[in-house]
Amino acid sequence: MTPKIIAPSILAADFANLQRDVEMVNQSEADWFHIDIMDGVFVPNISFGMPVLRDIVKHASKTIDVHLMIIDPDRYISTFAGLGADILTVHYEACTHLHRTLQAIKAEGMEAGVALNPHTNIDLLEDVITDIDMVCLMSVNPGFGGQKFIENTYAKIKKLKALIHKTGATTKIEIDGGVTDQNAEKLIEAGADVLVAGSYVFKSKDQLGIIKHLKALVS
Ligand code: DX5
Ligand code: ZN
Repeated sequence: MTPKIIAPSILAADFANLQRDVEMVNQSEADWFHIDIMDGVFVPNISFGMPVLRDIVKHASKTIDVHLMIIDPDRYISTFAGLGADILTVHYEACTHLHRTLQAIKAEGMEAGVALNPHTNIDLLEDVITDIDMVCLMSVNPGFGGQKFIENTYAKIKKLKALIHKTGATTKIEIDGGVTDQNAEKLIEAGADVLVAGSYVFKSKDQLGIIKHLKALVS
């Protein structure tokens, strides 16, 4: 079995102690940094932008997984490549020409991800799945950390896994929102490869211990 990936979401970090929190992830058993970029238009919240990402990348020693919650993401693909994103995920709902957007991300040397809101049907990816390196299934409505996990996510993972098998794609499945030790194992059993965890990691007093615990649950 390919190793499962834990990606702490920096959205829940202490922005006044960002370097400390980035170093914590470096030293932890986590695999990736998950970076949420929000524009206040596609989602009803604004997180942080390029200068903050640039400074995170300066200190981060693991894969940079950028989740764009912005309209018309094509405008910024080369900017995020230049900033050091390894994986760039755009929202299905924000792309008019998704196939073109995916090719543009790959042409910049990044892996291409597509995120689906909780209401968006897996079937919509059928004609483009073999072009996608990772599908991010939102298990909360995007925009905020600390929300309650949506149970229908398990059914969506299974449906997506079946589509990946049917088409021979090598797409990874990432789950984003409300991940804790209460659902981590079940998500992996259903077919997930990457678990994003924000509040569950950063609101803990023992962040390294929580990451170790999550990693052990999914290994
Ligand atoms: C939500 C973001 C998530 C968020 C997850 O829009 O995409 O990455 O940080 O936070 P938790 O783990 O607290 O639900
Ligand atoms: Zn995210």
